[in-house]
Amino acid sequence: MTGFLALRGLEKRFPNGTFAVAGVDLDVAEGELVALLGPSGCGKTTTLRCIAGFEDPTAGTIELAGRRIDTLPPNRRAATMVFQGYALFPHLSVWENVAYGLRVRRVDAGSLRDRVAAALALVGLAGLGDRRPEQLSGGQQQRVALARALVLEPRLLLFDEPLSNLDAKLREQMRLEIRALQQRAGITSVYVTHDQAEAMTLSDRIAVMSEGRIVQLGTPRQIYDEPATRFVADFIGHANFVSGIVRGILGPGSLDVEVLGRVRLVSAAAATYREGDAVVVLIRPEEVRLVTDDRDAVPATVLRVGFLGSSAIYQLQLAGDEVLATVPMERGVSLHSQGSRVGVLVSDAALRAFAG
Ligand SMILES: Nc1ncnc2c1ncn2[C@@H]1O[C@H](COP(=O)(O)OP(=O)(O)O)[C@@H](O)[C@H]1O
Ligand SMILES: [Mg+2]
Repeated sequence: MTGFLALRGLEKRFPNGTFAVAGVDLDVAEGELVALLGPSGCGKTTTLRCIAGFEDPTAGTIELAGRRIDTLPPNRRAATMVFQGYALFPHLSVWENVAYGLRVRRVDAGSLRDRVAAALALVGLAGLGDRRPEQLSGGQQQRVALARALVLEPRLLLFDEPLSNLDAKLREQMRLEIRALQQRAGITSVYVTHDQAEAMTLSDRIAVMSEGRIVQLGTPRQIYDEPATRFVADFIGHANFVSGIVRGILGPGSLDVEVLGRVRLVSAAAATYREGDAVVVLIRPEEVRLVTDDRDAVPATVLRVGFLGSSAIYQLQLAGDEVLATVPMERGVSLHSQGSRVGVLVSDAALRAFAG
C-alpha cells in the first residue's frame, strides 16, 4: 500500500561522487511518526532534505497525499522542517518568531493572531509571547521552534536531530513532549536521529539506515527484539555477541545452536545456514541472570562490577566470551565482587543468531 508519504527508489549522488542516499523506499502512514536512525554519515539528513526540497534527488520519486512533490519548490510541499531551538531569531519576541512564517505568507492579521495564539497554546507557552528567546530555558526555546513549524499547519513535519544541543535530562523530557504534541496535532512526521533511545521513545516505527539504505523498518519492539542484521542488533541498545555453532536447521528463522555450553533452540536472522556453520549469537545484557546455586548455569567470573543505582552492570568472562550483564538492584541485596565465580542463566528465547 502506498503511504501518505511515499519515497520510491530515492537516490542522491552529490557532484563529488558521494552516494549519500542509495535507493530508499519508505511509506509513512497519515499521522505516523517514523524515525530515520543510523550512524553519522548514513544519509539521514540528505533523505530529509530531499523530502523538504532542499536537495534535488538524482533518482526516485516522493509523493505526499497522493501527489508528486519532488518536482515542487520547498514552499509548495506542505512539509516543514523543525530546526533546533537555537535557530530562533534572537531579536524577535517569541510571538514574532512564531508569526514570522505567516507574515512571509501574507496571512491576514486576524487569522495570524488566532493561529499564533493556538500554536503557542499547543506547545504550552501561551503566556510567554512577549519574551525574547534568550529569556527562555532550552526546552522552552525548542517548544517555540516547534510552534513555529506547527503554525504553518503543515501536512508533514520533518525533524533533524532537534534535541542534540540539549543536556541529557532535558532531552529525555523533550522526547516525550514532542511525541505527545505530534500525536495531539496528528501530523505525519519524519524524525532524523542517531540516538537510538530517542528513536525508541518517539516513534511508531523506526527505519534503521546504513550507507544510504534502509536496512530494517519496524516498530521499536521489532527492531529491538528481532534485529534483521548484526549491524541493527549492535546499533540498537547494548548487544553481547557470543560464538555458536549450528547443530540443526528447524525451519526459517529457527535453529539449534550450540552456544553457552549446550545446544539451544534460537531464533535466527534471515540467511542461509548449514549444520556446522559458525554463527554469532546476540544476548541483551538485561537477559543475563546471575545465580549462585544452579546446576544448569554457565560458570563465569566477574571481571568488573559497577553500581548504577537502579541496576548494576557486570562484565563477565564466560569461557571464551566476555559478556555484559545488567541486573536490577534490590535494596539489601549485595553485589558479586570482582573475581568471584557466578553462574549465568540466559533463556533460549532471548538468543538470536546471525550468520558468522
Ligand atoms: N552537500 C554535500 N556534498 C557532498 N557530500 C555530502 C553533502 N552533504 C552530505 N554529504 C555526504 O553524504 C553522506 C550522508 O550525509 P548525511 O545525509 O548528512 O548523513 P547523516 O545525516 O546520516 O549524518 C556523508 O558521507 C556526507 O559527507
Ligand atoms: Mg545528519
